[in-house]
Amino acid sequence: MILVFGSLNIDLVAQVPVIPGPGRTVLAPSYETHFGGKGANQAVAAARIAGPGQVRMVGRVGRDGFGDGAIENLRANGVDTNLVVKTDEPTGCAFITVDQSGENAITVASGANLTASASDLPAALFGPDTVLVLQMEVPFAPALEAARRTTAASGTVIWNLAPVPEHMTREMVTELLAVTDYLLVNEHEALDAAAAVGLDPADCEAAAAELAKAGGLTCIVTAGAQGALAVTRHGTRLRAPAPSITPIDTTGAGDTFVGALASMLSEKVPLQKSLEIGCEAAALKCLKAGSQDGMPARGAVKSIA
Ligand code: RIB
Repeated sequence: MILVFGSLNIDLVAQVPVIPGPGRTVLAPSYETHFGGKGANQAVAAARIAGPGQVRMVGRVGRDGFGDGAIENLRANGVDTNLVVKTDEPTGCAFITVDQSGENAITVASGANLTASASDLPAALFGPDTVLVLQMEVPFAPALEAARRTTAASGTVIWNLAPVPEHMTREMVTELLAVTDYLLVNEHEALDAAAAVGLDPADCEAAAAELAKAGGLTCIVTAGAQGALAVTRHGTRLRAPAPSITPIDTTGAGDTFVGALASMLSEKVPLQKSLEIGCEAAALKCLKAGSQDGMPARGAVKSIA
């Protein structure tokens, strides 16, 4: 069972000629509403590949229309939502601008996501077949607790260190590394995590190697059009290319990679193949607007034999 403990958001997306800097205003002709949140996105990405009933989402939404919609969307994608809790805080909302090259800038109003609690996670969820998927859009303490319980039950922990918190401490990263089997980061996140624990790598590949060694884990760096790199706890390096595409919207591409990887690792697919499948799934996502709309179903990912 793939267990995602994380955020559920509604994404309000404006296509802009250029992403505004501080003090700037740009006009967009309109906006679109999409389902999002890194947790929910990764749950949907995994479910589209693993199939209905293989993914369970744990998180919190508000008692509002956005929350009802977010839950209904997960169910429609085959994700078990019985443990999604409704609270008095509003459902998380992400304000996203996407420029003409498909790049984005995101501000998340966390709302109900900040009330997610370890008490939402019954002990029966954790076992040797549990593949726990975490991000950084719910509070760190319950996420860490979920990882510790998974590790204690001999399950597998995948932690996507995104977004990097403003005040990420050495203690946080040290604790995270100690309970993580697969650390997933982009190039910036790799360098930020390494710096937080006092490392000074020359580049993101060196950062991945040092984080893998420090945590006794596999560190995977996603690099968009440059594909993905993994460094195992033994120092072995694996690479997967990204298919060449013209992106329409890269929002949710990283989440698609994480979900696809989780689904492959839960099927015990070798890491090299899992990386290739993750890269292909992420590229396919970029061909459609919105975090989840382009996430491929299993049959659309050619590298899944
Ligand atoms: O990774 C993309 C996601 O980040 C968006 O869906 C948005 O909700 C933010 O959480």
